[in-house]
Amino acid sequence: MSEKAPVEVATGGGREMNRRKFLVRLSVALGSIGAALIAVPSAAFLLGLRKQPQIWRTVGTLNDFKVGETVNVSFEDPSPLPWAGVTAQTTAWLRRVDNENFIAFSTICTHLGCPVGWLASADLFMCPCHGGVFYADGQVASGPPPKPLNRYPVRISENDVQILTMPVPIT
Ligand code: FES
Repeated sequence: MSEKAPVEVATGGGREMNRRKFLVRLSVALGSIGAALIAVPSAAFLLGLRKQPQIWRTVGTLNDFKVGETVNVSFEDPSPLPWAGVTAQTTAWLRRVDNENFIAFSTICTHLGCPVGWLASADLFMCPCHGGVFYADGQVASGPPPKPLNRYPVRISENDVQILTMPVPIT
């Protein structure tokens, strides 16, 4: 009796394994690239490495503002997206202190970001959401806000009143 040698049948298993390994490596590579695309800008933002745009925006001329009055002015966000439309507009409370000095306050409450209103009769900024109240100088008078209203730098350029726009922290 003679024993027959086992016959190998070509199944293409080697080629299948190579394709599987290739697809696994491709998935890992694409996943790593995707993670890096998200992680790098996020890390730069958290570490404060990303430069925040700051632009002087004209909000009116000197004749538009009376000494002692606090008025709402609107201007374009410092980094509007091309498709932002009207949402690129933001506002501030602007007070003319005297002939040459202005103060601009953010309209964003430092508690949870609701828009604060100016109540001229009481000389106070009021937040409608949780009853936060700020004095005329932006300091907290009562309620949950943990810190004063943020301020924008203001300058007079020739006859124009300009605000230095910048991203304002919500809390
Ligand atoms: S958001 Fe203004 S008091 Fe809460």
